[in-house]
Amino acid sequence: MPANALTVVVHRSDPEAQHSFRVTRTEPMMVLDLLLAIQREHDAAIGFKYSCRVAMCGTCTVRLDGRSVLACQTPVPPERDTVRIDPAAGLPVVRDLVVDTAPFWREWAKVTPYLVPRDDLTEPAVIAPDAEERQLIDPGLDCIGCGACFSSCAVAAGSRDFLGPAALNRAMVLVADSRDAAGAQRLAAAGGAGGVDRCHYVYGCSAVCPKGLDPAGAIRQLRAWRLRPGSADDR
Ligand code: SF4
Ligand code: FES
Repeated sequence: MPANALTVVVHRSDPEAQHSFRVTRTEPMMVLDLLLAIQREHDAAIGFKYSCRVAMCGTCTVRLDGRSVLACQTPVPPERDTVRIDPAAGLPVVRDLVVDTAPFWREWAKVTPYLVPRDDLTEPAVIAPDAEERQLIDPGLDCIGCGACFSSCAVAAGSRDFLGPAALNRAMVLVADSRDAAGAQRLAAAGGAGGVDRCHYVYGCSAVCPKGLDPAGAIRQLRAWRLRPGSADDR
């Protein structure tokens, strides 16, 4: 094996399956390239997911040495000679690195994650580029539903009673949108038992988001709205 090889330890569902592989480095090399090399050269049956390969579809989330990342956009650390790859945390493992994302999407659905247009608006209703609400909306729009935040959040990943960072970020974006008519129900969901008060503000979600979103900041904003008298009525 060439000197520029590294050892990759991969979670396998079958304890009898090979879980440690020597892989030749390439330059550049993403975590997904490692997995494809393992599949090509060592074990065609290894289970992992990907689709777009350009950080857009959100399907390739894994943990690299414990950190939740997109496999397709995360470089293999040049200084390491061994890395470990595990499935995203907090979601049922289907096989190897493949997880069932249904629990993540169930929480997402609870915040009415789509715009509910106000009856009094005519189409097209536009938010002006310099509108104040854009300061809140624009930075939170690029969520790709990868679940890295969910996987890195001990509350979301460790229990089944928290909406989680992505759903709450989505709720904040829609509550901030003056064209939307469902702000009160979203604030009610965010203020309920599985809502913002479950957040411990560790900021792991914001630290790992591959799109640079700040779900913890969104949760803080929702909490501020919820605490303001009449907030649910005037959003
Ligand atoms: S908020 Fe970021 S980390 Fe969470 S699902 Fe969306 S893109 Fe992924
Ligand atoms: S393969 Fe689509 S985000 Fe990684």
